[in-house]
Amino acid sequence: MRIGLLGCGTVGQAVVRTLIGGGATIERASGHRLEVGPILVRDPTKLRPGVDPALITTDPARVLDDPSVSIVVEVMGGLDPTLGYLQTAIARGASVVTANKQLLSRYGPELLTAAQEAGAELRFEASACAAIPVIKVLRESLLAAEITAVTGIVNGTTNFILTEMSRGGLSYEEALARAQELGYAEADPSEDVGGADAAAKMAILSSIAFHSRVRIDDVPYEGIDRLQAEDLGHALALGFVVKLLGVARLMNGSASVRVYPALVPRGHRLAAIDGPDNAVLLESRATREIMLVGPGAGGDETASAVVADILSILGTHQGSFLHNALADAGRAIAPPGSVSSAFYLRMAVADRPGVLARIASAFADEELSIRTVVQSGSGDEARLVLILHNGPEERMEQALARMRALDDVRGDPVMLRVLGSGEGGVRR
Ligand SMILES: NC(=O)c1ccc[n+]([C@@H]2O[C@H](COP(=O)([O-])OP(=O)(O)OC[C@H]3O[C@@H](n4cnc5c(N)ncnc54)[C@H](OP(=O)(O)O)[C@@H]3O)[C@@H](O)[C@H]2O)c1
Repeated sequence: MRIGLLGCGTVGQAVVRTLIGGGATIERASGHRLEVGPILVRDPTKLRPGVDPALITTDPARVLDDPSVSIVVEVMGGLDPTLGYLQTAIARGASVVTANKQLLSRYGPELLTAAQEAGAELRFEASACAAIPVIKVLRESLLAAEITAVTGIVNGTTNFILTEMSRGGLSYEEALARAQELGYAEADPSEDVGGADAAAKMAILSSIAFHSRVRIDDVPYEGIDRLQAEDLGHALALGFVVKLLGVARLMNGSASVRVYPALVPRGHRLAAIDGPDNAVLLESRATREIMLVGPGAGGDETASAVVADILSILGTHQGSFLHNALADAGRAIAPPGSVSSAFYLRMAVADRPGVLARIASAFADEELSIRTVVQSGSGDEARLVLILHNGPEERMEQALARMRALDDVRGDPVMLRVLGSGEGGVRR
């Protein structure tokens, strides 16, 4: 199965790396060996680490017209000549995977119809919310759920800026400059901060959710570029955070899709989505609320969705499906004791001098260090509550055995793991 690429920039290079790195697993699960290339670019002389220069071409026909290329991956962006390229590939029966939200939100219905007529597949998971598999969930898992609302934080740049303004007290200009510095905003951020990027994604998501044809021109949008830090301050004082929301509702059978900055109650699930992350809340009577959260941009993140689409196309070939049972990589099981986490510990202790020092030294003997300690009560009620820094579980077990042997400790200490830094990590 040959995969041709249109474009080999941030996303394209990550797609090539992922396909090559995951080739063996893909072959075991799908029965197809994937071959990558040819790859269309504008400038063949650019450095593209991990990409075989022999696969690079500047001739679109090598990707579009070669019958041995069964799947065309479009990661070049733009409308022209991209639309024509995709129409050419689809017309000869090639399946297409695209990450191009501008194109999909304008010409999605025409491209889907053309693909249907040609017996080809058109997939576009990466066009909305990059790594989050929201389109697959809507198209497959929730196909019959009758989704009535999609509410999303679908632009990571603006969410990062708003988080910085709320948390760090930065002005809009300062927060934008910081986003640019960290690579979360482009040099020309107008598509993001003006709301057009979110509107394109909401057009795509609502089309799938409501089984309808919503185009970007049907989505009125406002951005965050006119928001004042002062209003974010007032919102916070009143118990709200400000988010740029995509809001799609089915109202008496009609689709209403809009993008605007809105106050979100601090207890709402979407209020907790900070920084460059995206989140989509899907509502239906049957499933109530389902929220998907994750990175909404980035080369590897977007490539993950592109490769998922390729796999989904492989799964439709010859009525086949992915044989996950055959995808056994033969991994060893990590012994539980080698897993690291931070720990919470509560214990009843004797109320006498030096208790804390003896306990701390028992932890130190196991190379575990204390992050926080709270001592409360006296006499029979004396308690110690500790949070320990990240450490391997087997060390913690040994430390607990030492605790139980100490005269100072009464009864069995209560130990819980703390979610956070290093949790789940395996000691090397
Ligand atoms: N980056 C992300 O985080 C992200 C997230 C979601 C979706 N996307 C979408 O993914 C697509 C690609 O984004 P990207 O960030 O990878 O862009 P990029 O880094 O600018 O790469 C674009 C690639 O396409 C090639 N190209 C552009 N116009 C061409 C033309 N007319 N003919 C031949 N080749 C052409 C470029 O060739 P040269 O290398 O020769 O310049 C380059 O290899 C876009 O639709 C974008 O909206 C990106």
